[in-house]
Amino acid sequence: MDSRKPLIAGNWKMFGRSGDLAEMAATLDAVGPAAAAVDVAFCPPATLLAAAAERLRGRLARVGAQDVSPLPDGAHTGDLSAGMLAEAGASFCIVGHSERRKDHGESDATVAAKATAAARAGLAPIVCVGETLAEREAGRALAVVEAQLAGSIPEDAPDALVVAYEPVWAIGTGLTPTTAEIAAMHGHIRALLGARFGRRAGGMRVLYGGSVKPGNAGEIFAVPSVDGALVGGASLKAADFSAIILSHPAARG
Ligand code: PGA
Repeated sequence: MDSRKPLIAGNWKMFGRSGDLAEMAATLDAVGPAAAAVDVAFCPPATLLAAAAERLRGRLARVGAQDVSPLPDGAHTGDLSAGMLAEAGASFCIVGHSERRKDHGESDATVAAKATAAARAGLAPIVCVGETLAEREAGRALAVVEAQLAGSIPEDAPDALVVAYEPVWAIGTGLTPTTAEIAAMHGHIRALLGARFGRRAGGMRVLYGGSVKPGNAGEIFAVPSVDGALVGGASLKAADFSAIILSHPAARG
C-alpha cells in the first residue's frame, strides 16, 4: 500500500525570532492550493511554537517541536514536556536529530523514550536516524541506520510515526547521497518498519533530510519510498521552502 500523504517539514533549528514567522504565511501564499496535497509543517524554536500555531490557525500547515523531555511535568529545570508542547499547538515533535545526538549525547534509548512521551501527548514523533561519512565509507550505512531504528523507535510507536533519514554528512553541507543511495536506504527502512509493525507500517512516513534545496528536491521526491523531506536551512526562507514544496509531484497535481 502506498497511500501515505507526503510530509514536508521545516526544521528551523536554533534560528528564528518573531519577525521570521511571516515566512510561514509567505511560504503558504506562494504554494497556494497545492498545499492541500501535502502535509506541511514548520518546526520553529520552542519560544515561537505558540505564536506559530496561532498564525497558522485555519491554514494548511501545522507546527512541530524540535525536542521534548522524555519525562512528564515535574521538577526538571529548563525542560519542556510533551504535554506542554501539545498545549502550545504542536502536532509533531522531532526527536533524535543528529545535532542532539552529538551535542547532547542522546542515546537511542533516550530518543525512544522521547518518542514515547511525544506520542502519549498526541504528537507525531519524527525520529531522526543517519550514518556519519566514516560509517558510509566503511560500507556500514545500512547497518548503522538499522541499529538506530531498532533502538530509537519504541515498541508502542504510533501509526503516525515519522522516520527521517538524515545522513549526518549531508546536513548543512550541500552534499547529498545519490538517488540510488537514498532509494537503497529508504527501501531498507520501509522493509524494517514492515517487519516490525506489519500492516501498521503502511501509514508510517519515511522522510529524507540533509541539504534538500529547490534544485534537488524534485529528484529526491521522485525516489521510491521517499514520503517527503525534513528541510533545515532552506525552510527558513519562503522562496526556497515554497519551491521545495511545489516540486513535489503531489503538489503539482
Ligand atoms: P539542512 O538540515 O537541510 O540544512 O541540511 C536538515 C536537518 O538537519 O534537518
